[in-house]
Amino acid sequence: MTPDQKKIVAAEAALDYIKPNTTIGVGTGSTVNHFIDLLAENFKGQIKAAVSSSVASSERMRHYGIPIIDLNEAGRLSIYVDGADESNHQLQLIKGGGGALTREKIIAAASDKFVCIADASKLVNVLGDFPLPVEVIPMAQNLVARQLKVLGCEIKLRAGFVTDNGNIILDLLGLQIEDALTLEHRINQITGVVCVGLFAQRPADVLILGEADGARKVFA
Ligand code: 5RP
Repeated sequence: MTPDQKKIVAAEAALDYIKPNTTIGVGTGSTVNHFIDLLAENFKGQIKAAVSSSVASSERMRHYGIPIIDLNEAGRLSIYVDGADESNHQLQLIKGGGGALTREKIIAAASDKFVCIADASKLVNVLGDFPLPVEVIPMAQNLVARQLKVLGCEIKLRAGFVTDNGNIILDLLGLQIEDALTLEHRINQITGVVCVGLFAQRPADVLILGEADGARKVFA
């Protein structure tokens, strides 16, 4: 089974969490794209609305006739479905490989249940093999980079990439993240940082892993 087929297995299992005629939060990425396709197929005309974490996901859902509304209009959400680049066993995540980390973090914070869907390779013992994304206000690029240097990581500007919020991404390579909550707070304190793609303060509630023999649920 390919990694992409495993993503489909995870996305399919997340449908169990969807209740008709509710407003749901929907994230971004290739796993979520499968989820959107399956949602449209299995809940045709039954999704009241979605709050989306990216322009790309909004467009995909609109194509299927799923209404997109603003989070301010939606209020608190009962469920948020999104992917991840890495998860540890506490369901703390690295997200933002697709650059949508800030909106993803906002929707996760506004949701009662965060269902994370991924192929099985995303579960790791220690976060950090995947570069940690940091969304930064463009004029603060060098200011922020100088302060991130003390973490002892390599810092790479995501070349040619602009977030949906008009900002840049600095990817941090070579971290071994043992205390994700402390690092999340530390990076968020740097002036010019919009958001770091560490989801430790608000981890996932359940991680659905697509494996060759089906979906496996992991709880913290
Ligand atoms: C986007 C994300 C995605 O959830 C993450 O990159 C996983 O993507 P994929 O499902 O394509 O592996 O955080 O900002």
